[in-house]
Amino acid sequence: MKFARRLDQVPPYLFAELERKIAEKQRAGIDVISLGIGDPDLPTPEPVVAALAEAASDPSTHRYPSNQGSKEFREAAAGFYRRRFGVELDPATEVIPALGGKEAVGHVCLALLDPGDVCLSPDPGYPPYTSGPLFAEAEVEYLPLEEENGFLPDLDAVPGERAAGANVLFLNYPNNPTGAVVEPGFFERAVEFAREHHVVVVHDNAYSEITFDGYRAPSFLETRGAKEVGIEIFSLSKGWNMTGWRSGLVAGNAEVVERYRQLKTNLDSGMFEAVQRATVVALTVAESFPGEMSEVYRRRRDLVAEAFAAIGLEVEPPKATPYFWVRVPEGYTSESFVELVLERAAVVVSPGPAYGPSGEGFFRISLTVPDDRLEEAVGRIESSLRAGIIEA
Ligand SMILES: Cc1ncc(COP(=O)(O)O)c(C=O)c1O
Repeated sequence: MKFARRLDQVPPYLFAELERKIAEKQRAGIDVISLGIGDPDLPTPEPVVAALAEAASDPSTHRYPSNQGSKEFREAAAGFYRRRFGVELDPATEVIPALGGKEAVGHVCLALLDPGDVCLSPDPGYPPYTSGPLFAEAEVEYLPLEEENGFLPDLDAVPGERAAGANVLFLNYPNNPTGAVVEPGFFERAVEFAREHHVVVVHDNAYSEITFDGYRAPSFLETRGAKEVGIEIFSLSKGWNMTGWRSGLVAGNAEVVERYRQLKTNLDSGMFEAVQRATVVALTVAESFPGEMSEVYRRRRDLVAEAFAAIGLEVEPPKATPYFWVRVPEGYTSESFVELVLERAAVVVSPGPAYGPSGEGFFRISLTVPDDRLEEAVGRIESSLRAGIIEA
C-alpha cells in the first residue's frame, strides 16, 4: 500500500505515545499514575449533562446540523463573550461552533495556509500548531518562548523574510505547556505585527477560565483592532470538564470565520444539535462552573508547589492552566528524567521537547488527577529522584 507522506512529516502525537507506554505498564499489572495528559478527572456540570439528555431525546436534534451552528448557540457564545470579556460579536457572522479547539486549529490551517506559506508557531507549543501547518504543506517557523521573556515570543526577532512569507501567527495565553499568562501590551504588539506583515493572528484561548489568585485572563479579541487581523479559538473542554464532548467555537474576523465554515462544509457536518444545546447551558446556566474548577486546581497547584520545592525542584506556581512547567534536575535531560520517573515511579510526565525543541530541559505535569493520586505521584517522584541520586 502507498500512503500519503504528510503523516510521516509530523512527529508521532505525543499523547498517543504516552498512552501506548501507559497501556504497556498497565498490562504488566503496574499501577501507573499519569500526569501527562490535560484531561480533567471531574465530571461535566450536571445541568449541562441534563440538557444533553433532554436534547438527545428530541428527535429534531437527530438530523444533520448546519456548520454555521444554531442561532441559540451563536447568541449564547456572543452573550458569554460580552459578559466575560466585554467583547461584542455579531452572532450571524463572527462566531461559529468548532468540534473542540483541536479541530479548529487543524482546519484553520487548511483554510488559511497554502503550500510554501510560513506559519509562526510558539515553541514550546501545543503540537497541532506544528502538525496543522504541515498538513497544509506550509512551513513552520518556531518562535522560541524563553523563560526570561515570560514565555512570550519576541516578535521583533522573527527574521524579515520569514515574517514576509507568513500567513498565520499562533498565540496561546494562558499557555500550554508553560502555564504562562500574557503580559499587558503583548496582544497590542501582535495586532501591530499582523498589520505590518499581513498575518492572521490565531489566538487559542483554551485556558482562559482556569485561573488562580484573582488573575483574570483576557480574550485576544479585547485588544483594539484584533477582529481586523484575527480570530480566537475558545474551548469548553477544560473549564467545564467537557473534553469528551468536542465543544468549542471560533470567533472574531468574519472573513476568516466564513472561510473556516466553507472548509468545514466539505469535511464535517457540524456539531450535534444536542451538544449545541448543552453548550448553551454551559455558557449561561453553568457560566460560573470554571471558577469552581479553578479552585480545585489551585488547591492541587499549591500541594504540588510545596512538595516540589521540598525536593529541590525549581517551580514557579502558575497563575492559570492546570499545568506545571518544570526544569529537570541537574544532570538529567528531559528524556532521561521522564524515563526515570516512568520506570522507577510508574508516573507519567510529559517531556518538554514533545512541545518543540525549546522544551528541552523541562517537563510538564498536569493537575487533572485526584488530590490523593497527585500526592502519591509526587511522593513517588521524590523517592525515584533519591534513588537516582544514590546510584549516580
Ligand atoms: C493549547 C490547547 N489548545 C487546544 C486544545 C484542545 O482542546 P479541545 O479539547 O477543545 O480540542 C488543548 C488541549 O489540551 C490545548 O492545550
